[in-house]
Amino acid sequence: MNTQPVPQHIAMIMDGNGRWAKQRLLPRTVGHVKGAANVRHIVKACNQLGIEYLTLFAFSSENWRRPVEEVSALMGLFLQYLENEVAEMKASGIRLRVIGDRSAFAPLLQSRIDQAEQDTAHNTKLHLTIAANYGGQWDVLNAMRTWQLANPGKTLQDMDADALATHLSTFGLPDPELMIRTGGESRISNFLLWQTVYTELYFTDLHWPDFDAAALKKALQWYAKRVRRFGRTDEQVASTVTASADQAQPAADFGGEVKIS
Ligand code: IPE
Ligand code: IPE
Ligand code: MG
Repeated sequence: MNTQPVPQHIAMIMDGNGRWAKQRLLPRTVGHVKGAANVRHIVKACNQLGIEYLTLFAFSSENWRRPVEEVSALMGLFLQYLENEVAEMKASGIRLRVIGDRSAFAPLLQSRIDQAEQDTAHNTKLHLTIAANYGGQWDVLNAMRTWQLANPGKTLQDMDADALATHLSTFGLPDPELMIRTGGESRISNFLLWQTVYTELYFTDLHWPDFDAAALKKALQWYAKRVRRFGRTDEQVASTVTASADQAQPAADFGGEVKIS
């Protein structure tokens, strides 16, 4: 029986705020207000559970396509979240990072993001990453461009996966073992693309404002039952189960043993 420990890194696509509100005949923005409040509860729950890394998808690079009033309500909530939560983050050991192209944000929001990152930079208990104006394709393209700038004499032939990963916005974070999407859709919607090659994907019909600590524990129970093969067979996994730390580095330990004729 292969039981997974609690994941080190959980990524979440916080979807369903609009439908949560619609079901209650409320404006979509009320759903976002509820959703922002739920971020606080889930961050706290993860911190209590000993999760080390939590990455939340708050605003995608495609979400600019929404009505201008909704976009500005979301920006306002992001600003408010930073203003209200940083003191608590400092007190509870949470380090905040924001990934995504922040140059599109208003100068005030950009400076509050910078300040929040600086104010929590020494915390180590929970690494909270908020993906805002983030797109997985943007992240990979940006990494390729910055790799090229950092390696002016080299060509793409010289680039490998590890080198590229050092230029991704998530550099320093382990790949998520578990990704949770609320809101009933079964897609990634341009969230972490490169980083989720072996991530377990959990989809729930609950809308984000309803996703509470009990629902999180249910997702963790589901995760605990997964068999993570990283391309190998069940038998190989069973024989290496004692060396479970190897699972974080797929293919590292079978390199010299497998002969292809
Ligand atoms: C997720 O909820 C929040 C953001 C994308 C910012 P939605 O606003 O997408 O909610 P639905 O999918 O319309 O219900
Ligand atoms: C994904 O939700 C983005 C966030 C949760 C921030 P969307 O609601 O934008 O995704 P699609 O458009 O339904 O795929
Ligand atoms: Mg949605």
